[in-house]
Amino acid sequence: MADNAKRIPRHVAVVMDGNGRWANKRLMPRIVGHKYGVDALIGCINTCADRGIEYLTVFAFSSENWKRPEDEVSGLMNLVLTAVAKYLARLSDIGVRIQIIGDRAAVSEKVRAAWEHAERVTAGNKRITLSVAFNYGGRWDIVQACQRAVADGARAEQIDEALLSKYMALAYAPDPDLFIRTGGEVRISNFLLWQVAYSELYFTDCLWPDFDAAEIDKALADYAARDRRYGGVKTDISASGQKITLAPDA
Ligand code: FPP
Repeated sequence: MADNAKRIPRHVAVVMDGNGRWANKRLMPRIVGHKYGVDALIGCINTCADRGIEYLTVFAFSSENWKRPEDEVSGLMNLVLTAVAKYLARLSDIGVRIQIIGDRAAVSEKVRAAWEHAERVTAGNKRITLSVAFNYGGRWDIVQACQRAVADGARAEQIDEALLSKYMALAYAPDPDLFIRTGGEVRISNFLLWQVAYSELYFTDCLWPDFDAAEIDKALADYAARDRRYGGVKTDISASGQKITLAPDA
């Protein structure tokens, strides 16, 4: 158990995919799937906090999601307003700090105000940081980081990974240790491109509204069994107790 506790990821990033299919299977409109998706998210925040995860980052609305039918987009925007009204106090009570990452400029004043209210109310909380990626894209993030670095006077020769990291949307968090995508698709979909360079990837067919504590524990157990090498070499202890070096790996 003590060994297992060491293998709890500090930061988990999640693509919450499958709400639409979950609803379709039940002959319900897609937006109903998103509503159940919010409930799954609240459960996920609770479970992650209970397991000692310090940062949870979720993809709630991508830069590309504007291409969805208008009623689904407006439904998702309304869901932000109702979710903040319904859950903010509860989340704050259990020590959740909420941060929004993404391009706020294109989001309506009402939605922006709701998110900023959530950030303000939870600013002092310390148990877990929930970062909601909203109107977010990984490529947008890299571009905005470069633009802000240059606007701050950085010259070409000063731009390196350490400098750009300070301008990325998640500058306040360590890189995700574990990247989870539900819903059966096996791709990153322009989520945290910069930050997932060395994340362990976990894909599951489970649709997001069904992603409960048992499913989270499966993902955490899978993560705990991974051997993270960050481009180095795998080392192991041989039967004689001698340290041996195995194959190099990327
Ligand atoms: C992907 O499922 C899910 C989304 C685009 C939205 C995720 C949003 C939520 C879980 C709730 C909203 C969150 C907040 C904080 C208001 P999909 O629609 O692509 O599902 P499909 O692949 O089955 O069609």
